[in-house]
Amino acid sequence: MLCDNCIALTAEFRLDFEAARPIYAAARFLLRPFFINTSIPMPPIISISNLSKTYASGFQALKRIDLAIDKGEIFALLGPNGAGKTTLISVICGIVTPSTGTITVGGHDILTDYRAARSLIGLVPQELHTDAFESVWATVTFSRGLFGLPSDRGHIEKVLRSLSLWDKKDSKIMTLSGGMKRRVLIAKALAHEPKVLFLDEPTAGVDVELRKDMWNVVRALRASGVTIILTTHYIEEAEEMADRIGVINKGEIILVERKAELMHKLGEKQLTLQLHNTLDAIPADLTRHRLMLGPDGKELTYTYDTQGERTGITALLDDLARANIRFRDLQTTQSSLEDIFVGLVRKDQ
Ligand SMILES: Nc1ncnc2c1ncn2[C@@H]1O[C@H](COP(=O)(O)OP(=O)(O)O)[C@@H](O)[C@H]1O
Ligand SMILES: [Mg+2]
Repeated sequence: MLCDNCIALTAEFRLDFEAARPIYAAARFLLRPFFINTSIPMPPIISISNLSKTYASGFQALKRIDLAIDKGEIFALLGPNGAGKTTLISVICGIVTPSTGTITVGGHDILTDYRAARSLIGLVPQELHTDAFESVWATVTFSRGLFGLPSDRGHIEKVLRSLSLWDKKDSKIMTLSGGMKRRVLIAKALAHEPKVLFLDEPTAGVDVELRKDMWNVVRALRASGVTIILTTHYIEEAEEMADRIGVINKGEIILVERKAELMHKLGEKQLTLQLHNTLDAIPADLTRHRLMLGPDGKELTYTYDTQGERTGITALLDDLARANIRFRDLQTTQSSLEDIFVGLVRKDQ
């Protein structure tokens, strides 16, 4: 019925556009309430689909990656050395060519619309390469020029001040400390006002104090509206910084989850009871508890939320006594992000 009307309407448009115009205007007016207050989800700032990369050596470093990065988030790509983190970043930034797949940045395809995509991106590489004899000011200004942008002393000053580099602006880079050199790399990456900043292992080999300092810099950047993707093999770093965490291993993304969600899982504890007698199955009276029976029927594991109002342990013990299930021993364990990470990586091997 509706479809028939559509066809009729379309036909009318074709036959006599002028005559159909009031009908179209009326339809728009009548349908207007349906489109007001409808929140349209924001498209991701980076969209990766079916990305694979096989290097010339024949080594496949990335396997069918699908990933969407939301505007304004800090996304931590967590994985052991050799997992493919740098390769993934390098492909998005146009340094390494993908073997298959499509990637868009801000809606621009990184291959067919390279310049537009690249202009939105700032990259702080893993390896520290800086021009030792240049001044901080000159090297950061030069980075902006590489993007064909007119010079903007005000912007460079703002960047240097935000990174506490302003009083070092005339210093030669070789005279700076390691931490300051990293800040210069960030300043270079921000010189052309990117919307997305990649930080490849920003704190590898950096001492604890400097690491915390770096985290504050990253948070301030996010607050200014920049989307941040950082790679790390430090779980602590992902835990501290990220809104979402993606785990990569052997070129595959094996988990993407909001940090809060992961942390909720970390709030779970397991209570394991060593039973006196073997059980074939969990008795019906106990099914309301979250119980798992060990493969030999000698262990019952109960999972509970330490952050919840009640653990449910008392009720469980009452029910066990009622069902005449006795235990010899018990222990509790709590998983950490490290356990989850190690578990995932091991399962993947
Ligand atoms: N140019 C290259 N040619 C062949 N293999 C490479 C090249 N670059 C990286 N690799 C391999 O790809 C894998 C992923 O490397 P990389 O992306 O640097 O990992 P990560 O940054 O997670 O440590 C590693 O096994 C590495 O040896
Ligand atoms: Mg790397």
